[in-house]
Amino acid sequence: PTGQLTDTRGRPLRDLRISVTDRCNFRCNYCMPKEVFDKDYPYLPHGALLSFEEITRLARLFLAHGVRKIRLTGGEPLLRKNLEELVAQLAQLRTMEGLPPDLTLTTNGSLLARKAQALKDAGLNRVTVSLDGLDDAVFRRMNDVDFPVADVLAGIEAAQAAGLSQIKVNMVVKRGTNEHEILPMARHFRGTGTTLRFIEYMDVGATNGWRMDEVLPSAKLIERLRAELPLVQLDPSSPGETAERWGYANAAGQHDPSLGEVGVISSVTQAFCHDCNRARLSTEGKLYLCLFASEGYDLRTLLRGGASDEAIASAIAPIWQQRADRYSELRSSLPADTGQGARRVEMSYIGG
Ligand code: GTP
Ligand code: 5AD
Ligand code: SF4
Ligand code: SF4
Repeated sequence: PTGQLTDTRGRPLRDLRISVTDRCNFRCNYCMPKEVFDKDYPYLPHGALLSFEEITRLARLFLAHGVRKIRLTGGEPLLRKNLEELVAQLAQLRTMEGLPPDLTLTTNGSLLARKAQALKDAGLNRVTVSLDGLDDAVFRRMNDVDFPVADVLAGIEAAQAAGLSQIKVNMVVKRGTNEHEILPMARHFRGTGTTLRFIEYMDVGATNGWRMDEVLPSAKLIERLRAELPLVQLDPSSPGETAERWGYANAAGQHDPSLGEVGVISSVTQAFCHDCNRARLSTEGKLYLCLFASEGYDLRTLLRGGASDEAIASAIAPIWQQRADRYSELRSSLPADTGQGARRVEMSYIGG
């Protein structure tokens, strides 16, 4: 039972995002607010986590169903011991077309300076680093553990030096918190080969106290940026992409590739569900079909109950085939969350 899966809206399964830990050493308020994620928070016990062998086995079955890109996330994935060993195992796998999967990682960068070379050597292709500002005081306040910005910048440089290509930086923009960092961030990364992407603050999970008035719509952000740095819109580089791309322009108003590009990820104001090709595997082996889901599909019980590859592959197929999720498109027409319904999973658990 293999072959490219598509869902009820004709969307192919292409991107598998695997969360390798639900823990993080940062406490970004929009993701793991300190008041909730304190020392009593019920993180998963070690035995609940999928082992590297279990993850690799599932990844192989997902690749046979059409997946081409595998992203390791968390929590903070580099907190998982010997992550490079998992990378090495995943790098051996092949897509339906017989190619190595595009293997990438989303990290807060705090441990990257130490790990970049080992990850590259193990077969990691690319890396995305979260960074919400350049001003040290602003950044320390946003990660809420007083982590210095210089160490993240050193991590990005180490990734470049290790030969990880196409490095991306993700900046979550919160109105009134770090919007004044937009221009300094753009100026800093312009022309460096690193692509900066601005993410609209999202109502993911159930603990971050999200409010629409703290969202800076991407259209406004681009308007502000272009007033200082000329931009031209670029075509998508692949279908189902999260980011809208904008290239830095030269004096003639044309994209200057040597200056690079920025992206905007506008889940709130311009939903991109129509071609969403992403599945998420939680740290404990549940398959989630949307970032805003409340329930996942347990695959660990199959894995640990001795199911054959064929049985697991057959279980995965109808889950994707019956998928109809499009939360971001429906957001504004959904009834206000009263806290009575099913709780949405946290991003630290399901993975970015
Ligand atoms: P590449 O461009 O190939 O590197 O992948 P990507 O854009 O999927 O990368 P990344 O993991 O950096 O995603 C960027 C951010 O977009 C995530 O951290 C999320 O905040 C957001 N995002 C990613 N996928 C989804 C999605 O399916 N739905 C929504 N609403 N947001 C998403
Ligand atoms: N809204 C938007 N982006 C978020 N991220 C985490 N929580 C949110 C949120 N509420 C981002 C992180 C990181 C990626 C994993 O997801 O900053 O770049
Ligand atoms: Fe940790 Fe990333 Fe969440 Fe910040 S956004 S708390 S770095 S997982
Ligand atoms: Fe995909 Fe759900 Fe995000 Fe829409 S809201 S793009 S369906 S993960």
